[in-house]
Amino acid sequence: WDHYVVAIDGPSGSGKSSTSRGVAVRLGLRYLDTGAMYRAMTWWMLRHDVDVHDPNAVAARVEEPEILSGTDPLGPTILVDGIDVGLAIRSDEVNAAVSPVAAVPSVRSRLLEIQRDVIGEGGIVVEGRDIGSVVAPEAEVKVYLTADPAARARRRALEEGGADVEATRESLLARDAIDSGRATSPLVMAEGAVHVDGTAHTLDEVVGLVVQLVEAAA
Ligand code: C5P
Repeated sequence: WDHYVVAIDGPSGSGKSSTSRGVAVRLGLRYLDTGAMYRAMTWWMLRHDVDVHDPNAVAARVEEPEILSGTDPLGPTILVDGIDVGLAIRSDEVNAAVSPVAAVPSVRSRLLEIQRDVIGEGGIVVEGRDIGSVVAPEAEVKVYLTADPAARARRRALEEGGADVEATRESLLARDAIDSGRATSPLVMAEGAVHVDGTAHTLDEVVGLVVQLVEAAA
């Protein structure tokens, strides 16, 4: 599976990041967090006072930021114009603005190009919303990872250092609604994807399950 692409899609907070990183570490693969790239683009737009709710305003600046993603699953990095934005892209401001920005078609085509470049010849676990459907439809393994909203909100609130669970739940569901409803590359279960519901499982169990899927495909 050295050259495999493992696509992990699903809604916000379903455990995609921890699962993807765990799988990449166990299999010696690289790792790409495409959500971080949409967040980085959004961070740049906010920083440059672009009205993120005006698709034309966003589209007009989409070529400007230079976005670089590291692919080490033990320490993923994301740079925008040389600035490490790993923490800044997890802010409430970015959470609230990322889905409208990600719905702009030219944002998606710009980031798609960078994503395909990073994926290259494969050997990588890629997480997002449209990996199995659009970015890498040829992926050898596709997983659609879900968890019930309460579990997702609890997990995300904990990750965010003890944020309010109810507010986190609302923020997750608002993003899901936009991500699932948009015209360009909406969140869907890709053809050939295996649905994994992580609600009743530990992270180790889900990682083990995906590792088995990869081994079974080899
Ligand atoms: O995965 P994460 O929650 O960090 O993604 C943030 C946002 O980026 C999503 O809510 C979605 O709007 C967008 N996204 C996307 N396509 C991807 C990955 C993320 O539209 N492949």
